[in-house]
Amino acid sequence: MANAREPTGMNGFLPGRRTHTRPVERFSSPGGKTGPGGSRRCVVGKPMAVFVLAFLFLAPVLRAAEAVVHLLALGDWGANTPAQAAVAAAMKNYVERHHIGPDAVLLLGDNFYVDLDGVNDEDWKQLFERMYDPRRLAAPFYAVLGNHDYDDNRAQVELDYAKKNPESRFKLPHFWYRVDLPRNDPLVTLIALDSNANKHSKEQWTAQTRWLERELSKPRTARWTICFAHHPLFSDSEHGDDENLQKVWGPAFKKHRVDFYLAGHDHALEHLQIPDWPMSFVVSGGGGYETYEIERQDRAKFACGEHGFVHLLFTTDRARVSFVDKTGSTPHIFERNRRGDVRIVSGSALTREANLPVPVSSAP
Ligand SMILES: [Fe+2]
Ligand SMILES: [Zn+2]
Repeated sequence: MANAREPTGMNGFLPGRRTHTRPVERFSSPGGKTGPGGSRRCVVGKPMAVFVLAFLFLAPVLRAAEAVVHLLALGDWGANTPAQAAVAAAMKNYVERHHIGPDAVLLLGDNFYVDLDGVNDEDWKQLFERMYDPRRLAAPFYAVLGNHDYDDNRAQVELDYAKKNPESRFKLPHFWYRVDLPRNDPLVTLIALDSNANKHSKEQWTAQTRWLERELSKPRTARWTICFAHHPLFSDSEHGDDENLQKVWGPAFKKHRVDFYLAGHDHALEHLQIPDWPMSFVVSGGGGYETYEIERQDRAKFACGEHGFVHLLFTTDRARVSFVDKTGSTPHIFERNRRGDVRIVSGSALTREANLPVPVSSAP
């Protein structure tokens, strides 16, 4: 399968952090006169002081100008419900409040629960184009397909819509594809996968796995590798674990040390660290359809059957993942370094039913 690379759109700089530089006062004239009330030493000293001060002030700015990638992720969203609108509003408010210009939004499948009467259906505007604020969320939305996207031929409509509307933020160039962010000197590699095994022929399904192995085997240029698809490999909510996907994709994920696997399908927000699996598992399926119960309390670092989305921030040596509910609260935040050490930054692992704090420890 051809490697479909997409333009990145944004380079990850924070729009809220602009550098304002003042014109430097000149204290010497071409004739060699000194500045007001000054001596020649001041003429020499002032630029030095300015240089030192400029360095001191610019150092944090230069650090901020290091490559940074912001992603948002949500699944199970196109439901035309008040909850979908609430999550969309929470996304807008969140990026506004934190001065984030997202580089991309990951759509984790079950993109539409409503019928789509082709690429011109008004629901494209109502449930996507207008729903997710075009100004604050001006980034490509990279989608994967969920089981409900295969109902009533919606998968083909979604592929067609992306193809016929290249100016739209909705991106779905193929059933599986790769994106590097930023395109030049990437920090993050995104591998989008189709987890609907029963919707593909055996040959197609095998072809995807081979493609995945090939992509992961390539010399790694980005610091972080994220794989995302609709079905979770592990989940503590109603659908639970998927042993078939664990078997099919697990060996490649482990061998090539994928850092994150993101999924939807269970309508909940979850963070799991599973022994013998090097990556962090994130479930973000609370985009707007009815939420699910959490079925077990003995495993997740965090699991909550609530509507919301996830924000992932990547720097060269650290990733920070924030779970944001539809009210804008962040009940769980964790960080992960390049070695895979995980640290819970805030929030406690709560379940909706029991509201019991679950002990939180470092990942294995
Ligand atoms: Fe769903
Ligand atoms: Zn689903």
